[in-house]
Amino acid sequence: MSVTDAFDAVAGRYDQARRRLVPCFDAFYGTAVEVAAPPLRAALAAGRTPEVLDLGAGTGLLSLLLAAAVPGIRLTLVDGAPGMLAVAAGHLTERAVPHRTVHADLADPLPAGRYDAVVTALAVHHLDDDGKRSLYRRSAQALAPGGVLVNAEQVAGPTPTLDRRYDEVWTARITELGSDAEEIAGARERMRHDRPATVTDQCRWLDEAGLVDVDCFFKEWRFAVFGGRRPHSD
Ligand SMILES: C[S@@+](CC[C@H](N)C(=O)[O-])C[C@H]1O[C@@H](n2cnc3c(N)ncnc32)[C@H](O)[C@@H]1O
Repeated sequence: MSVTDAFDAVAGRYDQARRRLVPCFDAFYGTAVEVAAPPLRAALAAGRTPEVLDLGAGTGLLSLLLAAAVPGIRLTLVDGAPGMLAVAAGHLTERAVPHRTVHADLADPLPAGRYDAVVTALAVHHLDDDGKRSLYRRSAQALAPGGVLVNAEQVAGPTPTLDRRYDEVWTARITELGSDAEEIAGARERMRHDRPATVTDQCRWLDEAGLVDVDCFFKEWRFAVFGGRRPHSD
């Protein structure tokens, strides 16, 4: 089963498990929203509709949080799992948030546009490292000057020992939060597709993609939020 099929198979119940499987949910997604918000607010102040591209958008969790924090944005959601996108479209339509969904692989050309923010959560770690670098390069090019790229991501530990520790801590936390054996087994099955990279490598790839002010803005064990900004003039 491909990674997108694995997510499609759980699309209807994906949202319910998120707060258990991402123990730092509020700080993690909240930081991504804070990092993405300034160029969106600047576009609104200039009388423009801010454009946001959400890569591997799934059921639209990050898109919905951004739309709630910065009303007036327009979203483009890309994902390879049509069932996940259908759930996202339902949520966004219910809240009257302007959006389009694009069923595509993250290796495909990005939907044409100049985006004030390119955001992504828990998706890029499904790509191999060349795929991640290519996506960062293409995302940086798709940004409007001053636009922000932010990735809320599951990352690898910098050493095998720390990586094992990240996994132990995650297992203990999700168990405390009520994930049962079936939920943990399902998550681990999907995680067989994971190819996480370290924060250090990924921030370097963002630098190499031409972004500035690259930083890791949040990190709690395997969950990290990092990103950068396209300069106002290249
Ligand atoms: C863990 S979910 C994250 C969804 C959402 N961003 C969130 O924060 O809840 C990962 C998503 O990435 C999508 N995905 C993984 N690899 C992909 C690829 N190569 N092309 C397109 N979508 C992909 C999956 O279909 C899934 O919806």
